[in-house]
Amino acid sequence: MQLVTNSAVMKNVSDLIDRVAGTDANVLVIGESGTGKDLVAQAIHDRSHRRDRPLTKIDCASLPEDLFESELFGYEKGAFTGASESKPGRFETANGGSLVLDEIAGVSQSSQAKLLRVIEERIFERLGGKQSISIDVRIIALANVDLKEAVRARAFRDDLYYRLNVVTVALPRLVERTEDIPSLADQFAKHFSSRGGHNGIRISGDALKSLEEYEYPGNVRELRNIIEQAVMSAYGDTIGLSNLPEYLRSAARLIQSKQRKPSLAELEAVYIREVLEFTRGNKTRSAEILGISRKNLYEKMRRYEIGQLRSRKADEQL
Ligand SMILES: Nc1ncnc2c1ncn2[C@@H]1O[C@H](COP(=O)(O)OP(=O)(O)OP(=O)(O)O)[C@@H](O)[C@H]1O
Ligand SMILES: [Mg+2]
Repeated sequence: MQLVTNSAVMKNVSDLIDRVAGTDANVLVIGESGTGKDLVAQAIHDRSHRRDRPLTKIDCASLPEDLFESELFGYEKGAFTGASESKPGRFETANGGSLVLDEIAGVSQSSQAKLLRVIEERIFERLGGKQSISIDVRIIALANVDLKEAVRARAFRDDLYYRLNVVTVALPRLVERTEDIPSLADQFAKHFSSRGGHNGIRISGDALKSLEEYEYPGNVRELRNIIEQAVMSAYGDTIGLSNLPEYLRSAARLIQSKQRKPSLAELEAVYIREVLEFTRGNKTRSAEILGISRKNLYEKMRRYEIGQLRSRKADEQL
């Protein structure tokens, strides 16, 4: 997946990645869930001189303390019950490359102290081992915005925080960089359509407009999921408004948009679509609800190019 950097903020992020990639500095990547922290970690590694060495990742929040330490540092045979063989940890397998510590805030206090020592001295011992092993890895720690809060609350050591945070890459929420939405949506559409065997799917103008106006609490990942669904439900080679989830194109959403107020015609078009969907395409009922004649409804549907409902119904029947 290509890192999309159309917006000014993401251009800055990309420049910063270039600058930091040429150094061995540890990097802290901060951003809400789904903002692209993993992708940025990958980009830092790929643009660095370490690119031919391994990029290894460990999730600090999902593993219990013992397991986390044995994964990270490795162990010698007999170090604990069940350690029937010696095993190298992630620090060793990442040697010469980069080690991604995902959800760094999840590291326990005692593991934090051990981690700090490796970062400061670049040596460690396997669990149950006496021999010191020296390593050369660049650490890329990932965290959501609460890490500073954890430091303030003393749940996360500040000395470790400063060691990890030599450079900070802060990823803004997607709603703060709407300029990235068209390219992101396009990239995801291409990705998912080529996987499904057909190529070159495009996104219609009104669908794109709705995509640009949504807030994305789940950030880029949410946009990706929306496009994946849309590609599956699209008929032919275009993603239209009707292929987007209902919450994205409702009249209520348009009215509540913080970024732009819709025209009456836009609202009318969206609301007619909603009513048609509510009645599952029944024109007589829809005209009744809207308080207009059937003839008038047909006219408006033509004017607003509302016609995709049939394909949607066909999809539902599949
Ligand atoms: N700038 C971008 N350009 C292209 N794809 C992106 C971009 N940012 C994020 N993505 C895509 O969005 C999805 C979510 O990104 P990623 O997994 O890196 O998020 P994250 O910040 O690590 O989230 P979490 O905190 O939940 O782990 C991925 O599929 C990723 O490829
Ligand atoms: Mg992630």
